[in-house]
Amino acid sequence: MNRKPTYLVTAGPTREPVDPVRFISNPSSGKMGFAVAREAKRRGARVILIYGPAALVPPRVDEAVGVRTARDMMDAVTGFIGEADVLVMAAAVCDYRPAGYSENKIKKGAGGLTLELVENPDILTEACKVKRPCVVVGFAAESGNLLENARVKLEKKHLDLIVANDITSPGMGFGSDYNAVAILDRDGNVENIDRTTKEEIAVRIIDRIESLLAG
Ligand code: C5P
Repeated sequence: MNRKPTYLVTAGPTREPVDPVRFISNPSSGKMGFAVAREAKRRGARVILIYGPAALVPPRVDEAVGVRTARDMMDAVTGFIGEADVLVMAAAVCDYRPAGYSENKIKKGAGGLTLELVENPDILTEACKVKRPCVVVGFAAESGNLLENARVKLEKKHLDLIVANDITSPGMGFGSDYNAVAILDRDGNVENIDRTTKEEIAVRIIDRIESLLAG
């Protein structure tokens, strides 16, 4: 590619509201996606960052859009996908959201409370129906059968690369500055990256993306 590529990167968790004071979410810090966005920018790419509620300040990129729910994130991603050469879905999207939203704070009752959940749309799948970028990268956070589960996701979501990490490893992954990952590709290769900083993992991911763009 002769012109500078446009990266569309997602980061952080999504937040699915139950009532005005409660929500369902996960402990994603946004660090991995922010590191990818920062590294792509450092290499001269145009970077659009869509990020869920994260405690950290997002890096300076060309466009940064803060969102809350998975559906907000999907709208933002599908809105920008036409401009993207590369999609990196590092966000930890909530797979489920409450079936309904209570405008008033749900009062504590005598017994328990059952929440009905419905499935959120798959952002990767929906966005790629609008337009598939040249390179599509997903993440897989797994608590068992890491490589097998990651490979199934790579195939099912038609990804070029999937970055898999084992969330049961102590001191790594969600919220941490460090991770250990495996990058799987469509040719069956597995690149293992031992415990290192998320910045270094971002460097290795973008090296792989650049060689796919060049090929
Ligand atoms: O199936 P799983 O949620 O583990 O897939 C993870 C990958 O899919 C991540 O790249 C994540 O950002 C993306 N994803 C998505 N939309 C969802 C859930 C996950 O794009 N609703």
